[in-house]
Amino acid sequence: MAPSILHQPVSAPCSERGWNFGPGPALLPDSVLTQARDALWCFEDSGMGIAEISHRSKRFLELVERLQIGLRSLLAIPSTHDVLLIPGGATPHFSLIPINLALARGTRHATYAITGHWSRQAHREARTLIDSTVAIDIYTESGTRSNVRMIPELPLWSIDSSTAFLYYTDNESIDGIEFPAPPAITMPPLVSDMTANLFSRPVPIDRFDLIYAGVQKNLGITGLSIVIIRKDHLHKEIPGWPPILCYGSWAESQSMYNTPPTLNWYFALLMVEWMEAQGGLEALAARNDRKSSLLYQTIDQSGGFYQNAVSPTCRSRMNVPFTLTSQSLTEQFLKEASHSGLLQLEGHRTVGGCRASIYNAMPEAGVQNLCEFMNEFRHHAG
Ligand SMILES: Cc1ncc(COP(=O)(O)O)c(C=O)c1O
Repeated sequence: MAPSILHQPVSAPCSERGWNFGPGPALLPDSVLTQARDALWCFEDSGMGIAEISHRSKRFLELVERLQIGLRSLLAIPSTHDVLLIPGGATPHFSLIPINLALARGTRHATYAITGHWSRQAHREARTLIDSTVAIDIYTESGTRSNVRMIPELPLWSIDSSTAFLYYTDNESIDGIEFPAPPAITMPPLVSDMTANLFSRPVPIDRFDLIYAGVQKNLGITGLSIVIIRKDHLHKEIPGWPPILCYGSWAESQSMYNTPPTLNWYFALLMVEWMEAQGGLEALAARNDRKSSLLYQTIDQSGGFYQNAVSPTCRSRMNVPFTLTSQSLTEQFLKEASHSGLLQLEGHRTVGGCRASIYNAMPEAGVQNLCEFMNEFRHHAG
């Protein structure tokens, strides 16, 4: 019988919460949830809930200012870059980026590094707009991934420096592949999808022309995205495209081109303040290293009972996919894990297996509990 390893929130509206390893929507810190719960009823002393306050009110604009200042300070964003908050998650940027960074400049050529599901998806959508080429591709011609997954060394990449931008995904959340550091190139302009690892470590923002992320991993709740963009790319008009698709329109309106998802912005502020209270990105990075090392150690020392196919040179610190030796064992593992309060460990529907997503909000105790469970399961089911 597996031990009960449910954790108790600081103040619990329901009696029990498990350890949530979901990839996003993902676990939120207890203190953020309780603050949001109270603010939904009454925000500060406004007499209204946070989701009921006008986005044009003085009170909400103060919140926006705190959010902007907090984001800029946490990520050390230089004055050359603007921070936009755009509704709709990460996927709209698969198209917005080619429109704003290539077509707006009268070019139809950009380059994509394909290291997993999300970069492949971004490339597919870009191809409906521009003539993109591929710098590297971890998929074979038949569309399957090779057995050992790794990112080829930079000299093997095929990059034409006259291309509008080089696009890559810093952390592939389905494949569990993460760049240990941004590709060391100076040209062309670098663009990165950091949906699944922004805020997990410091980022040299000035090396990028654009970084974007859906916020549902480390910055709150699903449905919003953050875009950090060099100001040169802020066009308010792009011939043939409506203003709502121009990053410049969002910058000019302080991200209020239409009514913003105010609750998501509030959650983002709570997450920024929580990250500051944790000691900022250096401290979170050290904690994330410890958590992922422990989990990979548990997998690697299981004698093949658990396996992770990614090269240790580019294993994700945020999303750890692993397989067991058979489908029936995988199903048994997931069932027993769930009964023990270890939730949402299923791998993505396109690849199967298991995956533990361990974003900033997952405490070390949660990962230790998972590793203890994995060791125990191996002994009784192996
Ligand atoms: C790296 C990455 N890019 C893009 C997406 C798509 O995000 P969204 O569903 O917000 O459009 C995800 C979703 O998990 C992701 O992990």
